[in-house]
Amino acid sequence: MDIILDMYPKDLAANVFHDRFGQSPKHLVLAPGRVNLLGEHVDYNDGWVMPAAIDRSTWLAFSPVEEGDGLATLVAVDFAEQVSFNSEPIPAKTNLPEWARYPVGVAWAFRQAGLPAPVMLAAYASDVPRGAGLSSSASVEMAFGVALQTLAGQSIPAMQMALLGQKAENDYVGVNCGIMDQFASACGLRDHLLLLDCRSLAWRSLPLPDNLAIVIADTSVRRKLTVSAYNTRRQACEDAVRILSAELPGIRALRDVSLEAFNRFEDKLPGEPARRARHVVEELDRVQRAIPLLEQGDIQQFGRLMNECHASLRDLYEVSIPELDAMAEIARELPGCYGARLTGAGFGGCTVNLVAREQAETFSVELARRYQVRTNLAAEVYICRASDGARLVD
Ligand code: GLA
Repeated sequence: MDIILDMYPKDLAANVFHDRFGQSPKHLVLAPGRVNLLGEHVDYNDGWVMPAAIDRSTWLAFSPVEEGDGLATLVAVDFAEQVSFNSEPIPAKTNLPEWARYPVGVAWAFRQAGLPAPVMLAAYASDVPRGAGLSSSASVEMAFGVALQTLAGQSIPAMQMALLGQKAENDYVGVNCGIMDQFASACGLRDHLLLLDCRSLAWRSLPLPDNLAIVIADTSVRRKLTVSAYNTRRQACEDAVRILSAELPGIRALRDVSLEAFNRFEDKLPGEPARRARHVVEELDRVQRAIPLLEQGDIQQFGRLMNECHASLRDLYEVSIPELDAMAEIARELPGCYGARLTGAGFGGCTVNLVAREQAETFSVELARRYQVRTNLAAEVYICRASDGARLVD
């Protein structure tokens, strides 16, 4: 397969589809990645998160397979790989390459939920960087979710689609993620942040002031060993809830522990669960304080909470790396920067920066330059636009 490097993923997906299957795709969908402004590592503690869908997406070109032929073919343009399989029943994940487990997992989750998952020919390409904390896998899942509902002629509410993607990732792929990434990719709103209660799944949008830019800075360090480190963080939170429930009967998650109660009972916890739980409890408090700040346009204070979040992820949750710390520190020295912190699971990837719009260009150039001087690594820094969620475009 020839990869045409300077094409946009939209054209790439459609062109590769045409080359591979000898016909134009019937449909095209896109599903964005996401960036999270505040509420990190709290979604699986029933907390509140504040992400936005970004203007980097997975594009999926697809057509239904003719009646009677149950053979599905998926082409992952970015991996220059393809896989064909009989989808009756959905194959075990061990029979698939790793990249194919995300789309096939979504079809599996559809069928588990009693929804039709029609067979398709598909080619997809993405400009969401992989392993960078911007949820490239959730964007693949949501793209395939929209494709399946299109072929089935159904209309699945966006939140249900997010839950199907999370089920695919938890129970088919085997990553114990929360709901934030799929939610943001499914429910994104142009120029808005989203505020989600991960327990009730109630959500609303928060406007992003016009004079602000969200700048994403990729350290170019890719995540390693994230799945096991992620799962042990999650386990430590569950351990903390179990131990604290002796003092605080009825708590179901760290969401139910106030900062004041945590301060009272922290000494009941061993060191590691104590540090992890303190991050979560304080982060939940930060999100609650951040909502009115954003509504009142107090970006200075909001940015301070982002900076505190980074310190907490570094010192208490221990998911930062020196390059993320360097990127956040440099950003804060630059004019126009209100707040800077690592975004997503951590262990590599990107920082998110809230920057005065009129200074965002200079900020981006200078951040990349100083980061290179300090680390000898090339960074990709870009001004991102909060975007609409996953949808059929053609
Ligand atoms: C990953 C997971 C999310 C969330 C973040 C950390 O992106 O997929 O569910 O837990 O890490 O906030």
